[in-house]
Amino acid sequence: MSFPVSDQQGYEQQVLVKILFEQQFKRSASLVCHAPGRVNIIGDHTDYNDGFVLPAAINYGTTIAASKREDLIVKVYAHDCEQQINEFSLDDITFDEEMMWSNYVKGTLQALMKKHPSIKGANLAVTGNVPQGAGLSSSASFEIAILKAFSQLYQLELTGIDAALIGQQAENDFVGCNCGIMDQLISAMGQQGHAMLLDCKSLSFEDAPIPDDLTLFIINSNVKRGLVDSEYNLRREQCEAVAKYFGKSALREVTLAQLNFAKEQLEPELFKRARHVITENTRAVNALNALKNNDMVTISAAMKASHLSLRDDFEVTTKEMDGLVNMIDNVLGEKGGVRMTGGGFGGCVVALVPLELVAQVESVVNNNYENKFGLKPSIYHCTATQGAFR
Ligand code: GLA
Repeated sequence: MSFPVSDQQGYEQQVLVKILFEQQFKRSASLVCHAPGRVNIIGDHTDYNDGFVLPAAINYGTTIAASKREDLIVKVYAHDCEQQINEFSLDDITFDEEMMWSNYVKGTLQALMKKHPSIKGANLAVTGNVPQGAGLSSSASFEIAILKAFSQLYQLELTGIDAALIGQQAENDFVGCNCGIMDQLISAMGQQGHAMLLDCKSLSFEDAPIPDDLTLFIINSNVKRGLVDSEYNLRREQCEAVAKYFGKSALREVTLAQLNFAKEQLEPELFKRARHVITENTRAVNALNALKNNDMVTISAAMKASHLSLRDDFEVTTKEMDGLVNMIDNVLGEKGGVRMTGGGFGGCVVALVPLELVAQVESVVNNNYENKFGLKPSIYHCTATQGAFR
């Protein structure tokens, strides 16, 4: 299956969500807002180590139609979650074991109220087209869309950075995923046509244009993943343990030379985890410079090395993702780059593909992946879009 790039999609989502709102709430919504999902071009499992990431916001996201209420009730209609309706009061927020999706709304609003305690309720209709569980940040785009809706409904002073931190807090403190800041920040602050090098320590960032002659491909292995239940939190603990060994606040502060020097003292698995993070930081910074100079040979090598490091040192890839990367890499050579993207344990690979190789990449994936792994791949042709708070 292949999904074309189209602004039409965004427009159709807006129209749909307004209709859904009217059907549910018997009146028109007062606003519609949207927040994008993301793909990470390079720099995975570095954000929670105060490191560097190079993501882009994509033309798949969450769209919400909303209106204020006079009371504290929040009523949410989730079109893509079996058309469920969840209703709760802002003064009585509890974790929902059944409608797991509602915890993203609850956690986000609980965190928002720490900064803006006087907000009241809202009616919300939600629809989205970020594939769930694919590593493209459907949850971050949901959180940022909720924050955009409330910031507009209640005219809150909320910057994109504030929104990202609140979304991350919802994940860390309410949902139970100890994620970093990348997904929320790019969903809030992405720039159309650009990738963003984000320094996850200072939260400063730099945009770099994605060259026009490159297509941003995302291929979903359709191996479903779940970060909360996965080994994601364990990886974070392992990284923190190594930082602690060096007496540092995060692995960002540890050099490769220091790590190599301590190799015999560290458990082999911890050594490998840390080696991934430290080398991945360098690759992300190098890739930004290469992107700015349209230096595909360097980007290609950095993406290849990143995938191998995530496979062998961080151990978060699957055989299906490795297989996809291999088959695409054989087509691209040094003319493009390909690697797994996001948290891993299933989900997507990202490829930067020159226009002349687009058809060949598609056909190699369509002709080989299912035969080899028994799963249908989904190919998304993406464009880099604007964040919700940019
Ligand atoms: C998930 C997390 C991010 C980041 C990536 C891996 O997407 O939400 O914070 O850690 O995994 O790079």
